[in-house]
Amino acid sequence: MTTKINQTSLALVRGDITKERVDAIANAANALLMGGGGVDGAIHRAGGPAIEAKCRQIRAEQGGCPTGQAVLTTGGNLPAKHIIHTVGPIWRGGTAGEAELLASCYRESLGLALKHGIKTIAFPSISTGVYGYPVAQAAVIALNAVKQFLAAHDGLDEVRFVLFDDATYDAYENALSKMRD
Ligand code: APR
Repeated sequence: MTTKINQTSLALVRGDITKERVDAIANAANALLMGGGGVDGAIHRAGGPAIEAKCRQIRAEQGGCPTGQAVLTTGGNLPAKHIIHTVGPIWRGGTAGEAELLASCYRESLGLALKHGIKTIAFPSISTGVYGYPVAQAAVIALNAVKQFLAAHDGLDEVRFVLFDDATYDAYENALSKMRD
């Protein structure tokens, strides 16, 4: 499913984000940039040690990456040149600022992309795996955050959500259809 917001295409696809041919892929990281399971593990495995080396450097310089923020590393051996590591909130029932922090992940990642001349970026569904964010709610927040950013900023050609399983894809498709009504 694809739609257009100002100059930028917004696309939903099913797939494995490590295979995407885009300028940058976003990673659902943790605050210490230590690598983990889920999409983070897949990215580190496929991208090789150059990613971990840069994460270690960022950890030494600034202690990691706070929840809701984003940092940039090389894409290592991946087709994508850059990785934007962003740290989603852990779901704590919805009253601990999770929605604002999740929206911030997308805004900060897109801001970093513009700053680095990135034209095409792919996102996974941040926080909806290990971090437990209910996917129907996360999809609405993610798509609204991207839509609002693109309404206010030109410069990106495509923002693509690369969704790993049918349930996640369906949640995003449902949220996007409702937004277009
Ligand atoms: N491509 C795209 N999406 C993927 C891939 C992949 N290769 N692998 C997993 N996913 C999906 C999951 O199915 C889920 O829908 O990414 C989504 C986010 O799940 P997680 O990777 O578990 O991310 P998150 O919930 O944000 O938890 C982050 O998990 O791996 C650790 O270090 C990470 O501590 C951090 C935490």
